[in-house]
Formats: sequence, structure tokens, C-alpha cells
Amino acid sequence: METPSAASCRRRPLKPPLLLCLLLFALCPQPGLGLYTVNTVYGDTIILPCRIEVPDDLMFGKWKYEIANKAPVFIAFRSATKKSVHYDDVPEYKDRLSLSENYTLSITNARISDEKRFVCMLVTEDNVFEEPTIVKVFKQPSPPTFVNKAEFLETEQLKMLGECISKEGYPEGNLTWYRNEKVLQPVEGVVVINEQTNVDKASGLYTVISSLEYMPTKEDTNAYFTCTITYPGPKRQETIRSESRVFNIHYPTEKVKIQVVSQRNTIKEGDNITLKCSGNGNPPPEEFLFYIPGELEPIKSSSIHILSDVRRNATGEYGCSLTDKSLTDSTLITVHYLDLSLTPSGEVIKQIGEALPVSCTVSSSRNATLFWLKDNTRMRSSPSFSNLQYKDAGNYICETTLQEVAGLKKRQTLTLIVEGKPQIKMSKKTSTDGTFKTISCHVEGYPKPAVLWTATGTGILTNKTEETKYVDGKFSSKIIIAPEENVTLTCTAENPLERTVTSLNVSAINIPESDEPDERNNDNRENVNDQAKLIVGIVVGLLLAALVAGVAYWLYMKKSKDFNGESEKEAAQNIQNLPRTASKHVDKDLGNLEENKKLEENNHKSEA
Ligand SMILES: *[C@@H]1O[C@H](CO)[C@@H](O)[C@H](O)[C@H]1NC(C)=O
Ligand SMILES: *[C@@H]1O[C@H](CO)[C@@H](O)[C@H](O)[C@H]1NC(C)=O
Ligand SMILES: *[C@@H]1O[C@H](CO)[C@@H](O)[C@H](O)[C@H]1NC(C)=O
Ligand SMILES: *[C@@H]1O[C@H](CO)[C@@H](O)[C@H](O)[C@H]1NC(C)=O
Ligand SMILES: *[C@@H]1O[C@H](CO)[C@@H](O)[C@H](O)[C@H]1NC(C)=O
Ligand SMILES: *[C@@H]1O[C@H](CO)[C@@H](O)[C@H](O)[C@H]1NC(C)=O
Ligand SMILES: *[C@@H]1O[C@H](CO)[C@@H](O)[C@H](O)[C@H]1NC(C)=O
Ligand SMILES: *[C@@H]1O[C@H](CO)[C@@H](O)[C@H](O)[C@H]1NC(C)=O
Repeated sequence: METPSAASCRRRPLKPPLLLCLLLFALCPQPGLGLYTVNTVYGDTIILPCRIEVPDDLMFGKWKYEIANKAPVFIAFRSATKKSVHYDDVPEYKDRLSLSENYTLSITNARISDEKRFVCMLVTEDNVFEEPTIVKVFKQPSPPTFVNKAEFLETEQLKMLGECISKEGYPEGNLTWYRNEKVLQPVEGVVVINEQTNVDKASGLYTVISSLEYMPTKEDTNAYFTCTITYPGPKRQETIRSESRVFNIHYPTEKVKIQVVSQRNTIKEGDNITLKCSGNGNPPPEEFLFYIPGELEPIKSSSIHILSDVRRNATGEYGCSLTDKSLTDSTLITVHYLDLSLTPSGEVIKQIGEALPVSCTVSSSRNATLFWLKDNTRMRSSPSFSNLQYKDAGNYICETTLQEVAGLKKRQTLTLIVEGKPQIKMSKKTSTDGTFKTISCHVEGYPKPAVLWTATGTGILTNKTEETKYVDGKFSSKIIIAPEENVTLTCTAENPLERTVTSLNVSAINIPESDEPDERNNDNRENVNDQAKLIVGIVVGLLLAALVAGVAYWLYMKKSKDFNGESEKEAAQNIQNLPRTASKHVDKDLGNLEENKKLEENNHKSEA
């Protein structure tokens, strides 16, 4: 508690007479440097040793204090002879003093007002010894705290950031502001510091307040501000630091950004588009204007704008700006689409031999691939029919996909039914041992004809064998007989379109007969192909060479006009019905070169 800060003051017996000494005292330097000093913490006990060797002939000792330009005030007295102590009636020191036998004076509860020059006097018969001591009192101030803190600061604006306050210290301390550990020096219009000190009259303690006005930049966003109080302590200078604080710095938006928020990176028809606009200011702007293609006026919205179930016409440039129409950004959005048109589609019923042009066209935002399935099997080329056969019947699917756009896929179905009236061919065969004959009735037609066998005399025959499988509109029905006499067998085939009847003469089992399949055709139907064959047969068998030549010439004429073994009539139909326009469509829209080539070939063939 006691710090002898100066050693220059040695015991100094006052040799001159008391009066002279008192005179000299008036001229003595004021309490200060070079004098013995006692540093005491506020509230503690001040211990003032007398610092004079007690003489043997001591009469009494006294303590007094001196204030400049005022008479000294005596406060304590101890008689060496009577061993008694007396304290003067000084209100300031009432009940605070204690003078020990060795003349050390203790003053309890140190105050600021105790900062005085105290003098110990030892008096003998013929001498007076005096030794002054300076008392200094120190009070640590409260840790500095932030008050009146700003909610936020704005760039380009000088604003009160806050005040720093440190209370009840002594002697007066200094407040210093720091930004990120660096001392903030005042800068005109940017850093303005005002420090103010208040003294409490009763206690004499200082309260220091420093206000900081500050104009921040964006770089101050994460800067932390602190203040310190620097104050003299009993031993050395001390510093206490406040808590640090980061301020919310407001700054204007300098850039806006538009984004398409989406799980996928492509947008297709039916999707929802979520547009997000953002600004880089603080606080970020909350309202924007959205510029939507097709909308004359911009739409005011929060940072999110949703377009639901978009169509292809939503493709275009989307923009957004701040509400004052400044700072814009835009982005291009493509809404992908895929249209597929199949003609004809659904269920189509055609007659055998007819032509059926089929076209499947794609219209898309990108090159799409197109392929065909027949009864779930991939087809090599797109179907087109110039001469419908039963095998052409089936379930056709035209399907297209856009590879780049996930989930964009379209398909259409054509269910082709090829109908035909029943057609019959009959044949007979005698078994090798000659005991029975097998008569077959080969039937073609769709829907599947029902077959009925009849024989002259016996009527309906029931013991026909099993029918063969009905494949591609064909099947056959057989009966095995061993007739006693010549018989005419009749095969009747009937479907909703027509009833066809064909007969075959079978001679009795004991009469030898050629086994050549006697191809008996429908009696009551005209068929161009069959007729032609029949004519050729007759010509070969019966007519003269001249006639043969004539017929040959006629055939030559006919064949030269024909192609692919098809009849004139069919050929004519093909040319008429081939899907030339459709093919061109496909050419344009298809990405699949192979398919295009096939189509091209087909086209040339039919045009030849
Ligand atoms: C004087 O006396 C007090 C208590 O009586 C003691 O604490 C102190 O050390 C003494 N001082 C000297 C210089 O002897
Ligand atoms: C306080 O600041 C003043 C003026 O800047 C200076 O003279 C004084 O020495 C400082 N005191 C302390 C304790 O830092
Ligand atoms: C689009 O948003 C609507 C609700 O607004 C929702 O019902 C629909 O499922 C969304 N469509 C897609 C493809 O996410
Ligand atoms: C886009 O097309 C849809 C119909 O497909 C229509 O309802 C809508 O008004 C169109 N939008 C624009 C901007 O043309
Ligand atoms: C789309 O097809 C055209 C020709 O049909 C071709 O020039 C183009 O490169 C294709 N584009 C893509 C993305 O495949
Ligand atoms: C059925 O065929 C068998 C020969 O396999 C023959 O013996 C029988 O007489 C036939 N029945 C009729 C009713 O024609
Ligand atoms: C079958 O025989 C009858 C006579 O029994 C005859 O009139 C008929 O023309 C013959 N039919 C065929 C196709 O040969
Ligand atoms: C049966 O037919 C054969 C030829 O196939 C003929 O020669 C014979 O005369 C016929 N018999 C009767 C009874 O008609």
C-alpha cells in the first residue's frame, strides 16, 4: 500500500529556529515530485510512517496537513512523556485517525480529499523535526461500456455509432476507440470523437464519456469496435477494454441477379418456373419488378415470382429490376415442347389389299428422335401400306423423345385391323396304302371364318380333324374319308363379311385318282390373281402355240406395266395413296438418318 516513490527526502533535522523554518516553509515548493509519496487505493487505509528517528529527549509528536496558501491544520498529537494520544477536532478526519507509538499515522477509508501534504513533527526541548509525506489516492474506474449503440450504420453517412462510458475513476483516465485492434484517429467528417469528463462533487471521482460518430464503408461490415479506458494506477498505467461490437452496415444494392430456381436444368411445357431476383445490398431489397415476355407491364413482386404450367409461348427473355427500374438483369428461358401427330390413329379397319398411308410427324423445340413399335417390337422403318395383308394387322406405336429434356416423351397408337372375306382353296390326298383320303380346306379371311363341311348324300360331316392355328388370317381344316362311291365335298367358310362355298369331287376309294392337289377355288368369287393363274394354266394345257404367243404378248404388256408382281389396280392405288407429303414431314423433323433413308427409298420406289 505504501510506495516510496522518491528517495531524495532523507531525514532532515531542522536546525534553524522554528520561526525561521516556518518562514522558509511558505517558500517551500508545493507538494509534488521529489517528495516522499504514499500511494493508496481509494477506500484503503493510508499509512504514513513518521520517517524521523525518534530522539531520546522527545517531548511529543504531532501530525498536521498543509494546503497551499492556507494555515496548516493539526490533526493528531501524542505525548511522549504522558504516553497519551489526542486527535484534533477536524470533521474530515473524525474517527479515521490512529497514531501509533512509533508516530506512524493511519487514516482509514482513503478519499480523494486526502490527497494532501502531511507532515510529521517531533519536538524536543530544543528542537523541532519535520518530515512531509505526499498522499496520492487511486480509484480504478468501472470497465468501459457501450451505450446508445446504433442499430445500424449507413455507408456515406456520418452517424453516431455509440458512446463509451467509464465511471468513477481517479485520477482522470482517457478513452480510446479501436476498430479491429487499431486506434481510431479523428478524421474530419469520417471519424468524430468527443470526450467529456464529469466530476462527482461529493466523491471527486471522474466519469469519462466518449462518443464516436462514424461514416462506414462496406468494408466495415465485419469490423468490430471496442473502446478502452487508460488510467493511472498506484504502480503503473492500466487499461481496461470494453466488449467488442460489430455493427450492421447498410449499403445500397449495386447489382441485381435473376435466377431460375429449378430441380432440372431444362424446362418443359407444364412445368412451373420459379424466378428469383436478388440484390447485393444490405439489407437486401425485398421487392422487385419482373419483366415477363408477353406482359406489357412489369409485375411487382417479392424476390420470388412463380409462373405455373408454362406453355411454349413462355419461351423468351425474363428480367427483373429494382422497383425504381434501375439495375436490371435478364435471362433467356426456353420452354421445351414435343408434339406428335399420327394419322391415322386409334383403331383403323381396312380391307385386305387396300392401301394405307401412315404419317407420324414431330414438332419440337429440339431435334427429337422418333421410332416405331409393332406389337411392342421395335420396327426398322416407319410403316406404310400399299397392299394390306393380314400380317400387317397389329398394334403400332409411334414414339418420340427429347433426349436433352428429361421426361419429355410422347407416343400415339394405331390399332390396325385388316379384314377380308373368306377365301377357300381345297386339296385332296390319298393315303399311301389307298385306304383313305385326306381332304383339306385352306381358308383365309378376317374375322376368322367358321368352316362347315358337307357331302352329297351324307349331309354335314362332323369328323373333321382339328383345325390348324389361325396365323396371319389363314388356317386349314381337314377331313379324312374313305368313300364307297363318288362324292362331292363342300367346304363352307363364313365370317361377318361373306359366306364362301367351294366343292370338290372325290371319287370312290376304289377308283384310282391323281393326288395332285386339286386346287379348287371359290366358285362364286372373282379374284384377279387366281383368274390370271387359271388362264395361264388353261393356255399351257390346251391352246395352240399361236394362241400361246398371243397370250404371252398380252402378259408381256401387262407385266411391263406391273411391278413387284402386283396387279395394275393395286399399283395404281399405291401410287395414288403413298404418303409423299407425310414422308417429307418426317424428313424434316426426324433426327434419325437411317429412318429417313428408308423412307426416301420407299418414296422413290413408289414414284418409279
Ligand atoms: C510502528 O507501529 C506499527 C504498529 O504499532 C507497526 O505496524 C509499524 O511497523 C511500526 N513502524 C515502524 C517504522 O517501526
Ligand atoms: C489522456 O489524454 C491526454 C490528451 O490526449 C494526455 O495528455 C494524457 O496524458 C492522457 N492520459 C492518459 C492517462 O493516457
Ligand atoms: C406447379 O404448381 C402447382 C401449384 O401451384 C402444383 O400443383 C403443380 O404440381 C406444380 N407442377 C409441377 C410440374 O411441379
Ligand atoms: C400462351 O398460350 C396459352 C395457350 O396455350 C394462352 O392461354 C396464353 O394466353 C398464351 N400466352 C401468351 C403470353 O401468349
Ligand atoms: C438438328 O437437326 C439438324 C438437321 O436436321 C442438324 O443440322 C442439327 O445439327 C441438329 N441439331 C442437334 C442439336 O442435333
Ligand atoms: C370318320 O373317319 C374315319 C376314318 O378315319 C372313318 O372310318 C369313319 O367312317 C368316318 N366317319 C364318318 C361319320 O364319316
Ligand atoms: C363333279 O361331278 C359332277 C357330276 O357328278 C359334275 O357335274 C361336276 O361338274 C363336277 N364338278 C367338278 C368341279 O369337277
Ligand atoms: C366316278 O368317277 C370316276 C372318275 O373320277 C368315273 O370314271 C366313274 O364313272 C364314276 N362313277 C360313277 C358311279 O359315277
